[in-house]
Amino acid sequence: MLDAAEPLDGATVLDVGAGDGLIGLGALDRVGAGGAVIFADISPALLEQCRRAAKELGALDRTRFIQAKAEDLAEVPDGSVDVVTTRSVLIYVDDKAKAFAAFARVLRPGGRVSLFEPINRLMYPEPPGRFCGYDLGAVTDLVAKVNSTFDDLEDPAFRAAMMDFDDRDLTSLAEAADFERVHVECHIRHRAWLAHAAG
Ligand SMILES: C[S@@+](CC[C@H](N)C(=O)[O-])C[C@H]1O[C@@H](n2cnc3c(N)ncnc32)[C@H](O)[C@@H]1O
Repeated sequence: MLDAAEPLDGATVLDVGAGDGLIGLGALDRVGAGGAVIFADISPALLEQCRRAAKELGALDRTRFIQAKAEDLAEVPDGSVDVVTTRSVLIYVDDKAKAFAAFARVLRPGGRVSLFEPINRLMYPEPPGRFCGYDLGAVTDLVAKVNSTFDDLEDPAFRAAMMDFDDRDLTSLAEAADFERVHVECHIRHRAWLAHAAG
């Protein structure tokens, strides 16, 4: 993702849904002394974790931490960042078009987004008797019971957000937000069930 976002030297990067900092901390290295990284997340605890990590790296002066939803990024001024990164975050966002519009709003002219999302629709629902590709064998019935309990507990909107898009939808969302050039790569790794079961 960061390779796709290059050149980063001197850039201001906004990492949306920064989590514990995997991408944002990696970007700190690449933006160098003249750049900056803004860590954004809905979780204050994770932002605090990022702040501690940036402090340990002696890079606090090149960082900002903001509690914000991908859908609004309210504290980030229009046209103020060069690069938006986001990894495994849009799967949690109901209104993905709103998130893309927010990315477009905060970018300077010529700015870009580099993002990664798992395409759950390609893998789920699994055939009966399988869990994450594994043959459940003798415990199939038990796992079906556990799954049905979770089905009842889970918010349908949450599940929809995780399943309701694929690589083509991401392309359309970027186009609809007026990004001039869109490059999408879909990586599919397939292993036959039997081969998988055999390890
Ligand atoms: C799977 S983690 C990914 C963390 C990080 N991007 C990474 O790749 O390691 C998802 C992150 O998205 C954040 N998140 C969930 N919904 C969000 C939203 N609507 N806006 C911004 N962040 C969100 C969560 O708090 C969590 O830190």
